[in-house]
Amino acid sequence: MSDISSSAPPFRHLLGIEGLSPSDISEILDLSDEYVAQNRQVDKKRSILGGRAQINLFFETSTRTQTSFELAGKRLGADVINMTATASAIKKGETLIDTAATLNAMHPDALVVRHPHSGAVALLSQKMDCSVINAGDGSHEHPTQALLDALTIRRRLGQLHGLTVAICGDILHSRVARSNIMLLNIMGAHVRAIAPPTLLPVAMERMGVEVFHDMTQGLEDVDIVMMLRLQNERMRGAFVPSTREYYHFFGLDREKLAKAKPEALIMHPGPMNRGVEIDSELADDINRSVIREQVEMGVAVRMAVLDLLSRRPGNQPPVGPDTGPETGPEGAQP
Ligand code: CP
Repeated sequence: MSDISSSAPPFRHLLGIEGLSPSDISEILDLSDEYVAQNRQVDKKRSILGGRAQINLFFETSTRTQTSFELAGKRLGADVINMTATASAIKKGETLIDTAATLNAMHPDALVVRHPHSGAVALLSQKMDCSVINAGDGSHEHPTQALLDALTIRRRLGQLHGLTVAICGDILHSRVARSNIMLLNIMGAHVRAIAPPTLLPVAMERMGVEVFHDMTQGLEDVDIVMMLRLQNERMRGAFVPSTREYYHFFGLDREKLAKAKPEALIMHPGPMNRGVEIDSELADDINRSVIREQVEMGVAVRMAVLDLLSRRPGNQPPVGPDTGPETGPEGAQP
């Protein structure tokens, strides 16, 4: 590891992209690059988090995020425990706050949380002495997804600054879209939001994006096409007439993609609904789609985040048997 490995981040938790600076983001991406190289070696394991405990607490289903956080912690040498809401005392009526207090009493060193309600992870972080990482809260933020997307783009196209990125689909319910819009704006990219009016938040332009309701106009000359899933589980009522009609107007196919730059990359955070927001063959097109690469970057980014947060004062392990009174970690941010 290079000398960036010795610095600690200026934040204790990773609750969102909001509040991060360009240099915070670049530092995470730089370290992630080192972990990508490590993960491609036969021996992927390090011991920098040896003796530390990481709890993954997921109140919603996950394939990519939970597995990659588990792999990330284990590859850094931490003891990793996975908890789901259905297999915990939450099923017996225990509150979120009591769950946090209970876990906190076990002195974990990192808590990774996914929750269906926006703001729940920030609330939980106020009750924990360790670093808390948001693995997705409602339709609010999914910061490690935006970071892994940024790493994928940066490794492919060299930089984020000056690129035009189209985010297409169910932006209204998407925490991935919110985190990506913030990160891309912070890093100097131009963001376009393409969706039917029913799937866009009000006053979308205030987030620093250009809004389109027509895919062929919105995709004109973009560098990146980022497709999103229809989040039916967050919808109250009908937001599109039918999935067939939605695919016709907003599904990515070769004809619509032809409007983008010839070398434009296709991204999707997953899980994908083939034939709803993306043509199945395009999703698997090794010349255009970087969807599998995004998954690979997810492990590296999560290793970098766990590594960096562990360096915070108060997150360091005791250096000897007589370390004196504990110094509490500082206030939560961003
Ligand atoms: N992108 C994403 O968050 O996927 P999972 O729901 O599988 O974690």
